[in-house]
Amino acid sequence: EAKKLWGGRFSGGTDPLMEAFNESIHFDRRLHAADIQGSQAYAKALKRQGILTAAEQKTLEKGLSAVLREWQEGTFELRPGDEDIHTANERRLSELVGSVAGKLHTGRSRNDQVATDMRLWLRDEVTALIGYLRTLVGALVQRAESDVDVLMPGYTHLQRAQPIRWSHLLLSYAFWFQQDAVRFEQFLPRVAQLPLGSGALAGNPFQVDREWLAKELGFASVAPNSLYGTSDRDFVAELLFHSSLTMVHVSRLAEDLIIYSTAEFGFVKLADAYSTGSSLMPQKKNPDSLELLRGKCGRVFGGMSGFMMTYKGLPSTYNKDMQEDKEPMFDAVDTLSGSLQITAAVIATLKINPDKMRGSLTADMLATDLAEYLVRKGVPFRETHHISGAAVKMAEDRSCQISDLSVADLKTLHPSFEKDVMQTWDFEKSVDRRSSIGGTSRATVKAQIDQLKQWLA
Ligand code: ARG
Repeated sequence: EAKKLWGGRFSGGTDPLMEAFNESIHFDRRLHAADIQGSQAYAKALKRQGILTAAEQKTLEKGLSAVLREWQEGTFELRPGDEDIHTANERRLSELVGSVAGKLHTGRSRNDQVATDMRLWLRDEVTALIGYLRTLVGALVQRAESDVDVLMPGYTHLQRAQPIRWSHLLLSYAFWFQQDAVRFEQFLPRVAQLPLGSGALAGNPFQVDREWLAKELGFASVAPNSLYGTSDRDFVAELLFHSSLTMVHVSRLAEDLIIYSTAEFGFVKLADAYSTGSSLMPQKKNPDSLELLRGKCGRVFGGMSGFMMTYKGLPSTYNKDMQEDKEPMFDAVDTLSGSLQITAAVIATLKINPDKMRGSLTADMLATDLAEYLVRKGVPFRETHHISGAAVKMAEDRSCQISDLSVADLKTLHPSFEKDVMQTWDFEKSVDRRSSIGGTSRATVKAQIDQLKQWLA
């Protein structure tokens, strides 16, 4: 039977079923590098307090580097009893450097250690996620720029509403992802709050210099209370929420493109690289990438709600329930990094059918513009809305387009209609009239592109 870190007060062995139930090494091995980084810093902090001699600290540092190399080269051999990554690394260290390894954990607990490891790991992963978000924003901006001439129907309630630029839609996604990136950036300093030096719960009895440790590990601050330092998993909750919200944006983008890629719409065609076929129906090309993006949103949400249920109602400081925090954290990061990269690739390789998009515009989508024509002649909008509605009905009764009504027809609805009303029936003009900040006009779409480019620079 392997010697347990905590075996001193035990005489009975552990039920093998419990052993398997208790272990976390099969997933927390992902923290191996963070765990070693934290230990190397902690050994230096112990040396500064005179707990380790300079020679002992050097021995530990080298030993830990050797352990890290084994992980990196895939030669680290797990042993029965390697309950978690902390246990495994310390066990291997003691095999490599002998009994001095036993000094490393002085004043430290797995409770402050695990929280530190997770934060170290997550900091780098969040930085990578921000990079993927930026790449995605870049892909959307690039498309928006090259497709700026393309007009399409804009929808509310999935009913055709008003003409918009396709680029305008692409940029709406880009601003979502930009905000996601900003949220992750603002989250980083909260991730980088150092629990190490909190001990098991009550604090460190060897006066380790936690400010120094924070600097050494590149943390932004020190957890200001040791109970809080070991209790807190808000950073996991926050990661899961920010990830869930980002996945909502991914999912909504995917849903739009799934709809637009149906034969009935035919606005976009997914590249073969991101589609699959049917095993039965030879003609099928299915938007599997988009469906997976939509589906994986649910998975990240599930991780968040599962974790919140675990987190709620825990008594203060460390409880083993908290071991359940890691898998949803890993899964959210993995799901997000895959999803963001696929989304960017789908956007960059998407084929669009500009004729089909523009061809789906119908004159009734300019009924608002007709009302606005009268507004410009001084008629209150509430009245013009009714008058334009009457014009829509007149066209419907005659089974013609609203743009087929003559000036004389329109004059029966309101005397202010003049010959120039015919200029209303121009999709390009309609779009370009919407030129206040954020509108779908060419100029304001270009301004949005510039704004995002500046942010990306
Ligand atoms: N494997 C544990 C976890 O993931 C590490 C902390 C264990 N601490 C303890 N006091 N049992 O949470």
